[in-house]
Amino acid sequence: MPTSESRPPLALALARTAEAVTAYIEGAIARSGAPGERLAGAIRHATLAGGKRLRPFLVVESAALFGVCADRAMPAAAALECIHCYSLVHDDLPAMDNDDLRRGRPTVHRAYDEATAILAGDGLLTLAFEILAGEEDDTDPAVRLALIASLARAAGVAGMIGGQMLDLAAEGRFAQGALHRAPLDLSAEAIIQLQAMKTGALLRQACEAGALLGQASPAERASLDRYARAVGRAFQIADDLLDVEGEASLVGKAVGKDAAAGKATLVGTLGIEGARAELTRLTGEAEAALASFGSAATLLVEAAYFVADRRN
Ligand code: IPE
Ligand code: IPE
Ligand code: MG
Ligand code: MG
Ligand code: MG
Repeated sequence: MPTSESRPPLALALARTAEAVTAYIEGAIARSGAPGERLAGAIRHATLAGGKRLRPFLVVESAALFGVCADRAMPAAAALECIHCYSLVHDDLPAMDNDDLRRGRPTVHRAYDEATAILAGDGLLTLAFEILAGEEDDTDPAVRLALIASLARAAGVAGMIGGQMLDLAAEGRFAQGALHRAPLDLSAEAIIQLQAMKTGALLRQACEAGALLGQASPAERASLDRYARAVGRAFQIADDLLDVEGEASLVGKAVGKDAAAGKATLVGTLGIEGARAELTRLTGEAEAALASFGSAATLLVEAAYFVADRRN
């Protein structure tokens, strides 16, 4: 592993944010009042080991564009990561994607049991809002309220939850009268909309949180949102490519499952080369969206390329 001095700036910045947000979440869990060790243990399992912490990084770097320091961005970053981790715990459940491996370790329902995993996910969902509404945060109450509303909307039925529902529906699970489950034949536009909800909504919320903390102008918010939409789309295409081309030992989760499950993906619709071309187009779009911020946005631009080219 390279020393911190020789690591490229993006890797260093990601590592710094990961360390800070992990410590913040650890503290929030310790203060949460979970009874006994089993529930707190499952919540720690879901949050503290591994993860790229990309969403917290986007919160911190978006806020930094407006001179907001990482410490002030940490509650919003930690709250969003709690929602993300809960979404993974529930996504992995037998009733959903039925996965045994996450971040290179057993999924929460495998390490504990299904009921505990459901409750750990629910606990993280509510902890996120407790963090945002918490007493110890001295952010302006109007900004805090806007952050709460923004996170609720992104995580809810018009965002991540709605996207997860569409993702399962696309497998043909809810079709009436069919003898065998047949995946729906979704258009590329419908898949883009599904993915904008299931994955894009939380990534967009990261940048929106930074803009809210920084009291950005409408034009600045719009630029960041254009960037975040492109990154969100690239992120899920890269995830779908990893399912086809990745190795479980490197990716930290099972691969080769999407096609078998009948998941609607752009890799399935456009093919591998088509999906790669789309990634190139989207990273260019993400970079162009931040042009008005100049060199202040260098790390965010690099993050867009990292997202598209990631190996895990
Ligand atoms: C995985 O998200 C789930 C999707 C939204 C596709 P990440 O790839 O950000 O997962 P971690 O947090 O790094 O494990
Ligand atoms: C998960 O998408 C998205 C959310 C958890 C909201 P996937 O099902 O593709 O994520 P992985 O591949 O299991 O990480
Ligand atoms: Mg899923
Ligand atoms: Mg999954
Ligand atoms: Mg996936």
